[in-house]
Amino acid sequence: MSSKNSVSHHSKSTNLLLPNRPRRLRRTPAMRRMVRETQLSVNDLIYPLFVMEGESHQEEIISMPGCYRYSGDLLLKEVKNVFELGINAIALFPVIPEDKKDATATESYNPDGLVQRTVKAIRQAVPEIVVITDVALDPFSSHGHDGIVSEDGIILNDPTVDVLVKMALSQANAGADFVAPSDMMDGRVGAIRQALDAEGYVDVGILAYSAKYASAYYGPFRDALDSAPKFGDKKTYQMDSANAKEALKEIALDIAEGADVLMIKPALAYLDIIQQVRNATQLPVAAYNVSGEYAMIKAASQRGWIDEKSVILETLTSIKRAGADLILTYFAKDVALMLPGT
Ligand code: PBG
Repeated sequence: MSSKNSVSHHSKSTNLLLPNRPRRLRRTPAMRRMVRETQLSVNDLIYPLFVMEGESHQEEIISMPGCYRYSGDLLLKEVKNVFELGINAIALFPVIPEDKKDATATESYNPDGLVQRTVKAIRQAVPEIVVITDVALDPFSSHGHDGIVSEDGIILNDPTVDVLVKMALSQANAGADFVAPSDMMDGRVGAIRQALDAEGYVDVGILAYSAKYASAYYGPFRDALDSAPKFGDKKTYQMDSANAKEALKEIALDIAEGADVLMIKPALAYLDIIQQVRNATQLPVAAYNVSGEYAMIKAASQRGWIDEKSVILETLTSIKRAGADLILTYFAKDVALMLPGT
């Protein structure tokens, strides 16, 4: 018996008469592990990766220390490495050279484009890993918006959906397991599902960015891809951060249109949305722990202001506790390395 324990039991006279003492279950590490309600697992994690043209080249993203843009050959090594660490899935984002961008993002559905080539190569090299490709125009559009822009600067919904469908089909053809529309156009999940089915890609899933907010937390990601909008903002298609009921409406539409997994993005400022969505559906719920959330933790820990490892685990556990089954996070590799024994 531990001495601390016996001390408290021996000082009976000073004890309060309490029917409940919640601290009993917090007394030892083993006891705490027994009653822990939320367990973060490497199975929950999806690792976003950035691919660029070229060979034997990698560049660290300044506002995302520890994250790189990789040329295809180095990306394959990284994907192997990640799978060996137990991470089941990656989400792929391309860095498109300026001279391949245009107003209607035609490069996005080039069957021999960067994403399509990379997915094929991953399929060959690491066949079991789950490959998720992003469906949105912004990395490919000269103006940086997720849609086709009219002469007076309006983001046009239905013409954009036509391009998204072509992009999704070309990614499915290359071997993607899930296509992930991150654009927030109306009706795109249904249009993509119909097209995939019509072309025989019945097993390709849709991970829908269902409730994606117009967020300032995407800044570092836009640095990574050089994809910041050249004019205006994304508020006519991404959601207002003040709204929760609207998220439930978006979720209901995506379910009706055939989404397989629903995503909320960003994660930390939207934990209440994650919880409400969790209660509103039986589908798997994913949350995107976005670039700005990553950058804040990195910056503070580089200055020695917070303990990085503890803050990462606390943060990701909170996202899971709120109700996320899956977490897209740039910390996936770090967590895979630190999870055993936590
Ligand atoms: C593109 C897209 C964005 C992110 C994922 N897909 C940026 C945006 O919508 O502007 C952000 C991811 C992150 O910040 O980590 N549609």
